[in-house]
Amino acid sequence: MRILFLGDTVGRSGREAAAARLPELRRALRIDLAIVNAENASHGFGCAPEMAEALFAAGADVITLGNHAWDRKELIGYIGGAPRLLRPLNFPPGTPGQGSAVVTLTDGRRALVLNAMGRLFMDPLDCPFRATQELLTRHRLGGTVHAIVSDFHAEATSEKMAYAHVFDGQLSLVVGTHTHVPTADHQVLPGGTAFQSDAGMCGDYDSVIGMSKDGAATRFWRKMPGDRLHPAEGEATVCGLFVETDDSTGHARRVEPVRVGGRLSQVMPL
Ligand SMILES: [Fe+2]
Ligand SMILES: [Fe+2]
Repeated sequence: MRILFLGDTVGRSGREAAAARLPELRRALRIDLAIVNAENASHGFGCAPEMAEALFAAGADVITLGNHAWDRKELIGYIGGAPRLLRPLNFPPGTPGQGSAVVTLTDGRRALVLNAMGRLFMDPLDCPFRATQELLTRHRLGGTVHAIVSDFHAEATSEKMAYAHVFDGQLSLVVGTHTHVPTADHQVLPGGTAFQSDAGMCGDYDSVIGMSKDGAATRFWRKMPGDRLHPAEGEATVCGLFVETDDSTGHARRVEPVRVGGRLSQVMPL
Protein backbone atom coordinates (compact mmCIF):
# COMPACT_ATOMS: atom_id res chain seq x y z
CA MET A 1 0.00 0.00 0.00
CA ARG A 2 1.28 3.43 -0.92
CA ILE A 3 0.57 5.93 1.85
CA LEU A 4 0.97 9.71 1.99
CA PHE A 5 0.88 11.54 5.31
CA LEU A 6 0.92 15.36 5.50
CA GLY A 7 1.71 17.15 8.76
CA ASP A 8 -0.22 19.88 10.57
CA THR A 9 -1.80 22.30 8.08
CA VAL A 10 -1.40 25.81 9.53
CA GLY A 11 -3.75 28.62 8.52
CA ARG A 12 -4.99 29.53 5.08
CA SER A 13 -1.56 29.24 3.48
CA GLY A 14 -1.05 25.72 4.87
CA ARG A 15 -4.51 24.31 4.24
CA GLU A 16 -4.75 25.73 0.72
CA ALA A 17 -1.27 24.46 -0.19
CA ALA A 18 -2.12 20.99 1.15
CA ALA A 19 -5.39 20.93 -0.83
CA ALA A 20 -3.70 22.24 -3.98
CA ARG A 21 -0.84 19.71 -3.80
CA LEU A 22 -2.86 16.65 -2.80
CA PRO A 23 -4.17 15.71 -6.28
CA GLU A 24 -0.73 15.94 -7.91
CA LEU A 25 0.98 14.12 -5.04
CA ARG A 26 -1.62 11.36 -5.20
CA ARG A 27 -1.01 10.98 -8.93
CA ALA A 28 2.78 11.30 -8.92
CA LEU A 29 3.28 8.86 -6.02
CA ARG A 30 0.34 6.57 -6.99
CA ILE A 31 -1.08 7.00 -3.48
CA ASP A 32 -3.67 4.52 -2.16
CA LEU A 33 -4.27 6.22 1.20
CA ALA A 34 -3.76 9.90 2.05
CA ILE A 35 -3.91 11.29 5.60
CA VAL A 36 -3.68 14.95 6.60
CA ASN A 37 -3.37 16.46 10.07
CA ALA A 38 -5.56 19.59 10.17
CA GLU A 39 -5.47 20.63 13.84
CA ASN A 40 -4.18 24.13 12.96
CA ALA A 41 -6.09 24.70 9.71
CA SER A 42 -8.27 27.48 11.09
CA HIS A 43 -5.97 30.47 11.66
CA GLY A 44 -3.63 28.18 13.58
CA PHE A 45 -6.29 26.97 16.00
CA GLY A 46 -8.55 24.04 15.19
CA CYS A 47 -10.34 23.11 12.02
CA ALA A 48 -13.76 24.30 10.83
CA PRO A 49 -16.11 21.75 9.20
CA GLU A 50 -15.84 23.41 5.77
CA MET A 51 -12.03 23.20 5.99
CA ALA A 52 -12.20 19.47 6.69
CA GLU A 53 -14.59 19.09 3.77
CA ALA A 54 -12.24 20.98 1.45
CA LEU A 55 -9.36 18.66 2.40
CA PHE A 56 -11.54 15.56 1.91
CA ALA A 57 -12.61 16.91 -1.50
CA ALA A 58 -8.96 17.50 -2.44
CA GLY A 59 -8.10 13.85 -1.77
CA ALA A 60 -7.57 13.30 1.95
CA ASP A 61 -9.00 9.91 2.96
CA VAL A 62 -8.57 10.60 6.67
CA ILE A 63 -8.01 13.81 8.65
CA THR A 64 -6.36 13.78 12.07
CA LEU A 65 -6.31 16.40 14.82
CA GLY A 66 -4.49 16.93 18.14
CA ASN A 67 -4.49 19.22 21.15
CA HIS A 68 -6.25 21.93 19.08
CA ALA A 69 -9.12 19.57 18.15
CA TRP A 70 -11.87 21.67 19.75
CA ASP A 71 -10.55 25.19 19.15
CA ARG A 72 -13.27 25.57 16.48
CA LYS A 73 -16.32 24.65 18.53
CA GLU A 74 -18.43 23.89 15.42
CA LEU A 75 -16.37 20.73 15.01
CA ILE A 76 -17.78 19.24 18.23
CA GLY A 77 -21.24 18.87 16.67
CA TYR A 78 -19.83 17.90 13.28
CA ILE A 79 -17.30 15.19 14.13
CA GLY A 80 -19.83 12.50 15.04
CA GLY A 81 -21.15 12.56 11.46
CA ALA A 82 -17.64 12.51 9.93
CA PRO A 83 -16.22 9.04 10.64
CA ARG A 84 -12.93 9.77 8.84
CA LEU A 85 -12.20 12.86 10.90
CA LEU A 86 -10.23 11.72 13.97
CA ARG A 87 -9.49 13.32 17.33
CA PRO A 88 -6.99 11.67 19.71
CA LEU A 89 -8.27 8.26 20.84
CA ASN A 90 -7.02 8.77 24.40
CA PHE A 91 -9.38 11.69 25.05
CA PRO A 92 -11.65 10.77 27.99
CA PRO A 93 -14.44 8.22 27.45
CA GLY A 94 -17.60 9.99 26.23
CA THR A 95 -15.73 12.61 24.18
CA PRO A 96 -17.52 13.24 20.85
CA GLY A 97 -16.06 11.73 17.71
CA GLN A 98 -13.67 8.84 17.21
CA GLY A 99 -9.95 8.19 17.54
CA SER A 100 -9.62 5.65 14.76
CA ALA A 101 -11.18 4.66 11.45
CA VAL A 102 -10.98 1.69 9.13
CA VAL A 103 -10.78 2.78 5.49
CA THR A 104 -11.66 0.38 2.69
CA LEU A 105 -9.80 1.27 -0.50
CA THR A 106 -11.49 1.05 -3.91
CA ASP A 107 -9.70 -2.27 -4.52
CA GLY A 108 -10.96 -3.74 -1.24
CA ARG A 109 -7.80 -3.45 0.84
CA ARG A 110 -8.35 -2.13 4.35
CA ALA A 111 -6.32 0.28 6.47
CA LEU A 112 -6.72 1.35 10.09
CA VAL A 113 -5.76 4.93 10.90
CA LEU A 114 -5.51 6.19 14.46
CA ASN A 115 -4.69 9.45 16.18
CA ALA A 116 -3.10 9.32 19.65
CA MET A 117 -1.73 12.13 21.78
CA GLY A 118 1.35 12.17 23.99
CA ARG A 119 1.46 13.41 27.57
CA LEU A 120 4.97 14.74 28.16
CA PHE A 121 4.79 18.59 28.18
CA MET A 122 1.14 18.27 27.08
CA ASP A 123 -2.23 18.39 28.86
CA PRO A 124 -2.89 15.48 31.27
CA LEU A 125 -4.67 12.74 29.38
CA ASP A 126 -5.40 9.01 29.43
CA CYS A 127 -2.44 6.83 28.45
CA PRO A 128 -1.85 6.82 24.68
CA PHE A 129 0.12 3.55 24.90
CA ARG A 130 -2.69 1.73 26.67
CA ALA A 131 -5.33 3.20 24.33
CA THR A 132 -3.36 2.04 21.30
CA GLN A 133 -2.76 -1.40 22.81
CA GLU A 134 -6.49 -1.75 23.49
CA LEU A 135 -7.36 -0.77 19.90
CA LEU A 136 -4.86 -3.32 18.57
CA THR A 137 -6.68 -6.15 20.33
CA ARG A 138 -9.40 -5.63 17.68
CA HIS A 139 -7.22 -5.11 14.58
CA ARG A 140 -4.20 -7.04 13.41
CA LEU A 141 -1.74 -6.31 10.61
CA GLY A 142 -1.86 -8.99 7.96
CA GLY A 143 -5.13 -10.18 9.52
CA THR A 144 -8.12 -7.83 9.67
CA VAL A 145 -6.30 -4.92 7.99
CA HIS A 146 -3.49 -4.51 5.44
CA ALA A 147 -1.95 -1.40 7.01
CA ILE A 148 -2.14 0.52 10.29
CA VAL A 149 -1.04 4.15 10.58
CA SER A 150 -0.73 6.05 13.86
CA ASP A 151 -0.45 9.84 13.95
CA PHE A 152 1.18 10.28 17.36
CA HIS A 153 0.64 13.90 18.29
CA ALA A 154 3.23 14.82 20.89
CA GLU A 155 5.79 17.38 21.98
CA ALA A 156 8.62 15.15 23.18
CA THR A 157 10.76 13.26 20.69
CA SER A 158 11.58 10.73 23.40
CA GLU A 159 7.91 9.84 23.92
CA LYS A 160 7.40 9.52 20.16
CA MET A 161 10.40 7.19 19.79
CA ALA A 162 9.34 5.13 22.78
CA TYR A 163 5.83 4.75 21.33
CA ALA A 164 7.22 3.66 17.97
CA HIS A 165 9.43 1.01 19.58
CA VAL A 166 6.63 -0.31 21.80
CA PHE A 167 4.45 -0.91 18.74
CA ASP A 168 7.25 -1.82 16.28
CA GLY A 169 5.92 -4.62 14.10
CA GLN A 170 2.27 -4.03 15.07
CA LEU A 171 1.89 -0.80 13.07
CA SER A 172 2.88 0.06 9.49
CA LEU A 173 3.74 3.66 10.29
CA VAL A 174 4.17 5.82 13.38
CA VAL A 175 4.46 9.45 12.36
CA GLY A 176 4.82 12.26 14.86
CA THR A 177 3.01 15.58 14.56
CA HIS A 178 2.66 18.75 16.69
CA THR A 179 6.18 20.27 16.62
CA HIS A 180 5.73 21.53 13.03
CA VAL A 181 9.35 20.81 12.10
CA PRO A 182 10.28 17.82 9.91
CA THR A 183 12.91 15.60 11.49
CA ALA A 184 15.56 13.67 9.55
CA ASP A 185 15.16 10.35 11.40
CA HIS A 186 12.80 8.56 8.98
CA GLN A 187 13.55 4.85 9.02
CA VAL A 188 12.01 1.41 9.04
CA LEU A 189 12.47 0.07 12.59
CA PRO A 190 13.75 -3.52 13.10
CA GLY A 191 10.23 -4.93 13.52
CA GLY A 192 8.96 -3.38 10.28
CA THR A 193 7.28 -0.15 11.42
CA ALA A 194 8.15 3.01 9.50
CA PHE A 195 8.85 5.97 11.78
CA GLN A 196 9.62 9.66 11.74
CA SER A 197 9.57 11.75 14.92
CA ASP A 198 7.77 14.62 13.23
CA ALA A 199 6.30 15.04 9.77
CA GLY A 200 6.68 18.82 9.82
CA MET A 201 3.84 21.18 8.94
CA CYS A 202 2.10 22.36 5.84
CA GLY A 203 2.76 26.04 6.46
CA ASP A 204 4.99 29.05 5.92
CA TYR A 205 8.44 28.39 7.42
CA ASP A 206 9.28 32.12 7.56
CA SER A 207 7.56 32.03 10.93
CA VAL A 208 7.69 30.62 14.46
CA ILE A 209 6.22 27.14 13.89
CA GLY A 210 3.75 28.61 11.41
CA MET A 211 2.73 31.72 13.35
CA SER A 212 3.72 35.27 12.44
CA LYS A 213 7.30 35.72 13.64
CA ASP A 214 6.91 39.26 15.05
CA GLY A 215 4.11 38.45 17.46
CA ALA A 216 5.61 35.12 18.49
CA ALA A 217 9.11 36.52 18.99
CA THR A 218 7.85 39.34 21.26
CA ARG A 219 6.49 36.80 23.72
CA PHE A 220 9.88 35.15 24.11
CA TRP A 221 12.21 38.10 23.84
CA ARG A 222 10.33 40.86 25.67
CA LYS A 223 8.22 38.65 27.97
CA MET A 224 5.31 40.84 26.88
CA PRO A 225 2.05 39.45 25.53
CA GLY A 226 2.40 41.03 22.05
CA ASP A 227 -0.37 40.92 19.47
CA ARG A 228 -2.72 37.99 19.18
CA LEU A 229 -0.91 35.22 17.32
CA HIS A 230 -1.86 34.81 13.69
CA PRO A 231 -0.49 32.46 11.05
CA ALA A 232 2.26 33.50 8.66
CA GLU A 233 0.70 33.77 5.22
CA GLY A 234 3.71 33.34 2.92
CA GLU A 235 3.99 30.34 0.60
CA ALA A 236 3.70 27.09 2.53
CA THR A 237 6.00 24.12 2.35
CA VAL A 238 3.87 20.98 2.22
CA CYS A 239 5.69 18.53 4.52
CA GLY A 240 5.03 14.89 5.04
CA LEU A 241 6.01 11.32 4.39
CA PHE A 242 5.61 8.70 1.73
CA VAL A 243 5.49 5.07 2.87
CA GLU A 244 5.17 1.86 0.91
CA THR A 245 4.02 -1.23 2.79
CA ASP A 246 3.89 -4.95 2.06
CA ASP A 247 0.21 -6.00 1.89
CA SER A 248 0.83 -9.50 3.25
CA THR A 249 2.66 -8.42 6.43
CA GLY A 250 1.59 -4.79 6.71
CA HIS A 251 5.19 -3.84 7.36
CA ALA A 252 6.93 -0.92 5.69
CA ARG A 253 9.29 -1.44 2.76
CA ARG A 254 10.36 2.17 2.47
CA VAL A 255 9.75 5.53 4.04
CA GLU A 256 10.77 8.81 2.44
CA PRO A 257 10.18 12.45 3.25
CA VAL A 258 8.09 14.77 1.06
CA ARG A 259 8.67 18.54 1.03
CA VAL A 260 7.21 20.66 -1.75
CA GLY A 261 6.79 24.41 -2.20
CA GLY A 262 7.85 27.29 0.01
CA ARG A 263 11.21 27.85 1.67
CA LEU A 264 12.46 24.43 2.80
CA SER A 265 14.69 22.25 0.64
CA GLN A 266 12.56 20.32 -1.83
CA VAL A 267 12.29 16.52 -1.56
CA MET A 268 10.15 14.17 -3.62
CA PRO A 269 10.52 10.36 -3.51
CA LEU A 270 11.75 8.90 -6.80
FE1 LIG B 1 0.05 21.49 15.25
FE1 LIG C 1 -0.57 20.21 18.36
